[in-house]
Amino acid sequence: MAGKEPEIITDKNQMRKWSRTMRSKGKTIGLVPTMGYLHEGHISLVREAHNHTNLIVVSIYVNPGQFSTTEDLSTYPSDFDRDIQKLMAVPGGVDVVFHPYNLYDYGQRKPSGANNFGSSNDNCEKTICGDGGKVEKKEVVSCLEESGLGHETWVRVERLEKLLCGKSRPVFFRGVATVVTKLFNIVEPDVAVFGKKDYQQWRIIQRMVSFQRILKFLIECWQE
Ligand code: PAF
Repeated sequence: MAGKEPEIITDKNQMRKWSRTMRSKGKTIGLVPTMGYLHEGHISLVREAHNHTNLIVVSIYVNPGQFSTTEDLSTYPSDFDRDIQKLMAVPGGVDVVFHPYNLYDYGQRKPSGANNFGSSNDNCEKTICGDGGKVEKKEVVSCLEESGLGHETWVRVERLEKLLCGKSRPVFFRGVATVVTKLFNIVEPDVAVFGKKDYQQWRIIQRMVSFQRILKFLIECWQE
């Protein structure tokens, strides 16, 4: 059964403005970060968020910063319309879907062409924009470095990111920590909800926020 239709915001300044306006009206904001293609696990995080705040923002952004050049960003599944339908079916719905095109700063270099790490699933292997920025394949790099667009600022939880899955996915956790920091700074949530099923990711974000003190609460939630 379809419920409330979320407002879809793609611009980060507009997103921040929405959050600040709502907070000035005394509302609290819960954030559920996702990369889309939502399943029951994500929906359980949205339900959990409803227990803590008045308003809910779900972000849908396929983050190129957490994919290495050997992982295929282009085949990451997405179905935005279906995601919206699923969110509308959650009791209470969600207030905003934050769906940015790009969350990285390329400095003076401008992405050229369609394949420039927007939120569509572009293949990093194919994207070489500008000249001379391409890094040697033998280095462990993410799709962003591969692009040669000049992104070089990362948030890292240095000890925890190297353990367990970090051994086989060396760029993954710094990509997650970086994009989650960006999302926190844009949405400015009171509460964020992450699945504890991805335990190492959850632990890294918990460690990160304990230092940054961005959030009032980080909710522990197992997802299916
Ligand atoms: O768990 C995920 O879906 C992603 O790693 C996250 C936390 C949304 C960051 O891109």
